[in-house]
Amino acid sequence: MTVKIQQLSQWKQQGRPIVVLTAWDYAFAQILDQAGADILLVGDSLAMVALGYETTLPITLEEMLHHAKAVRRGVKQALIVVDLPFLSYQESWQQAIQSAGRVLKETGAQAVKLEGGYPAMADTVTHLVQVGIPVMGHVGLTPQSVHQLGYRQQGKSVEAKERILAEAIALEQAGAFAIVLEHIPADLAQQITQKLTIPTIGIGAGPHCDGQVLVTADLLGLSSWQPPFVKTYANLRESITQAVQGFASEVRSQEFPPKP
Ligand code: KIV
Ligand code: NA
Repeated sequence: MTVKIQQLSQWKQQGRPIVVLTAWDYAFAQILDQAGADILLVGDSLAMVALGYETTLPITLEEMLHHAKAVRRGVKQALIVVDLPFLSYQESWQQAIQSAGRVLKETGAQAVKLEGGYPAMADTVTHLVQVGIPVMGHVGLTPQSVHQLGYRQQGKSVEAKERILAEAIALEQAGAFAIVLEHIPADLAQQITQKLTIPTIGIGAGPHCDGQVLVTADLLGLSSWQPPFVKTYANLRESITQAVQGFASEVRSQEFPPKP
């Protein structure tokens, strides 16, 4: 493992942007790692991307552990962060230590991510950090609260801006090593990024964050739906369809396999 948590704040100071992508299985993790991602996030978006659920809510800790182990086997360089799924940490800090502890012990990942900020979640982060579990925070649009928030941009009103800024500060003070800022206005993300010494990782949060994350299926054009702020760098859905149609037509025409 060459990327270390201790490097990340240095990279922020140096203005070296941090590249984060999601991963959910061995094959993709190996490719993403070798292609040079700094951090691979086993995000609970794999509930939609790999398992076909409509939201991240149904996924269990067991399922996250299963995918995180597969990712771990494919990675040599990148730092691996695993999302704690819905209701595996919100009940109490004791529950959070149990769940995060299982992630570190059973998968070999180096850190966990959890959603939400001040004050209850900051207290949980304090406890996790105290026992030696590195934590990445996540504020703004937090998809585990989709039934409250929708998949809409957060932090539009003055009060909402102040609340999200306060959450980010509380997470840094609690000892989080980085924070995901999801779907908030660019000026708010810039303000948070300037205020904090730990790096901010943006998704739909404008260009002023210390790093950027995308859901890998979105960036590769594999998803059937994706948010408007995503840039697609490949169209794998189309490539795979063409490959499969090519195979099917050659099997049906008996061109494949070739005759001896
Ligand atoms: O689950 C996920 O993919 C995430 C990123 C979008 C930050 O939490
Ligand atoms: Na997530």
